[in-house]
Amino acid sequence: MRKSLIPLAILALSLLVTASAFAYSGGISGLSQNGCGGCHSNAGTAQVTLDGLPAQYEPGKTYTLTVTVSSQDVPGEGGGFDLSVTAGTLTPIDATTKIDGNDLTHTGAQRRSWSFNWTAPTQGDVTFYVAGLAANGDGGINGDAWTTYSSSVPVIPEFPGLTILIVLAAVALIILLAKKYY
Ligand code: HEC
Repeated sequence: MRKSLIPLAILALSLLVTASAFAYSGGISGLSQNGCGGCHSNAGTAQVTLDGLPAQYEPGKTYTLTVTVSSQDVPGEGGGFDLSVTAGTLTPIDATTKIDGNDLTHTGAQRRSWSFNWTAPTQGDVTFYVAGLAANGDGGINGDAWTTYSSSVPVIPEFPGLTILIVLAAVALIILLAKKYY
């Protein structure tokens, strides 16, 4: 009698595994550079923006950034994203995002904008990669639109004040010397 339950248990288990393996409406990682194709159709065009990035970052400073996806071709308010960065630390600030592997991703499929924190590294250029998907909310892979986006930010050059001072001192010295010898 008990033996007959084993196939059932295996079936239930494999269903569970399959369900969690395809639970992309709950977040996805590793696709920030390649996008969401292969599975999702691209039913139109989508746009991704990343707001809150400075032109040059301050080493070690924490910035609050916002990813937004939009599409005129996909109705509704649903969407998702996968973001990675070459340096620094990504931190969720609310329940709408989570860390998955090295990436930051959505936790649900009911929005198109997400805010999170990024703590800058101490040096070097940093590149953000984002794959964003505007979803039609049907819980499936059709009728959605996705695109990828990337943005690089350099660090603020060290000691800009000191550099200016040295240049000014050099100019003053040249003027002084010029006055003395000519
Ligand atoms: C390996 C295939 C696959 C890839 C790649 C994939 N998805 Fe999905 N996605 C699915 C499947 C299957 C569903 C439907 C089941 C579900 O909702 O989890 C889905 C559903 C979704 C939904 C809900 C859609 C809706 O209309 O309700 C969102 C949001 C989503 N995925 C985001 C993403 C994002 C963002 C990417 C790319 C960074 C991505 N997916 C890449 C397979 C994939």
